[in-house]
Amino acid sequence: MTTSSVRVAITGAAGHIGYALVFQIAKGNMFGPHTKVHLQLIELEPQLPALAGVKMELEDCGFPLLESVTCTADLSVGFAEADWALLVGAVPRKQGMERSDLLKINGGIFTEQGRVIDAVAKPTVQVLVVGNPCNTNALIAQQSVQRVDPQRFYAMTLLDQHRAVGQLATKAGVTAADVEGCVIWGNHSATQFPDIAAATIKLQPARAVIQDDAWLETTFLQNVQQRGAHIIQARGLSSAASAANAVVDTVAACSGLWGDRVFSLACTSDGAYGVDAGLVFSFPCRYEDGKVVIVPGYTQDDYGQGLFMKTLEELRAERDAVSALGLI
Ligand code: NAD
Ligand code: LMR
Repeated sequence: MTTSSVRVAITGAAGHIGYALVFQIAKGNMFGPHTKVHLQLIELEPQLPALAGVKMELEDCGFPLLESVTCTADLSVGFAEADWALLVGAVPRKQGMERSDLLKINGGIFTEQGRVIDAVAKPTVQVLVVGNPCNTNALIAQQSVQRVDPQRFYAMTLLDQHRAVGQLATKAGVTAADVEGCVIWGNHSATQFPDIAAATIKLQPARAVIQDDAWLETTFLQNVQQRGAHIIQARGLSSAASAANAVVDTVAACSGLWGDRVFSLACTSDGAYGVDAGLVFSFPCRYEDGKVVIVPGYTQDDYGQGLFMKTLEELRAERDAVSALGLI
């Protein structure tokens, strides 16, 4: 039985991630088979003709759960009454760039989007920033809010967790479903810390199953941290289908569809694990009593502590850089 409906605003909806994402949402993969969806697709003016084509294709799928599709370049139309705002629209990095190179290019977009979300979305809206550098863009976007709780702004690091799980599964010769408990700390960048201290493979400690510390501390670490760059190198374009898949999973997890399973999400620090309050930092999170909470109790050895501090330092530097640019 269909019981409710959600309004999902998506910026950059005609881009590569947007194109891989909207069909999954319309099919029910994000909110489940009992929730109808209104899609509010936002693009830059020149991309509106392409977006009209996306709308035609959505119509041509005959999705039973799809209630309406709005295409607009006007943020106040696109974010109106939204339950979720997925901020995908931004310039992707090209070969040879780090995500932080995008700070100046993309940062400004998020001030305005945060302001309009605060003005016209539902007060209970949740916002997932995907456009890079996503942690600090989320920090920028939440500065303009007065009505909406800034804690409801997140940045996506579940793609990194999925990547880490994929690496471990391949190495151990198992499927992704056999790998649990891997979490991402910090920034969605080359300093991120994919932590396997609590990870298991077929319910056994991951380190005991893999028995190759050198691989874990070099190849695995670098493969996860550099996966985005490796994909850009191979495709000439940044990851899109896997990013869209992670958006679907993140929103589902934040909406309670993953039960109490732990998942990685960059959210606003309340001082947990010694991270400066206010930084948007990836923590192990879970859905509890109707909201997303940071899961306490993870511990790190000296190796883990070193990686944790490195990504924390990078996010502090990004915060200081956008502060110097007057964006926060
Ligand atoms: P893309 O260039 O294919 O599409 C981006 C779209 O956004 C374009 O259609 C563009 O017109 C639109 N856009 C740009 N500025 C906009 C604005 N102000 N308002 C509305 N729309 C706007 O790029 P893509 O491959 O879809 O990637 C989008 C972003 O996601 C990039 O910043 C990329 O680096 C990032 N990304 C993040 C992750 C992650 O895990 N967090 C993963 C992959 C990609
Ligand atoms: C990714 O991780 O694939 C994205 O953040 C794109 C990029 O620039 O790496």
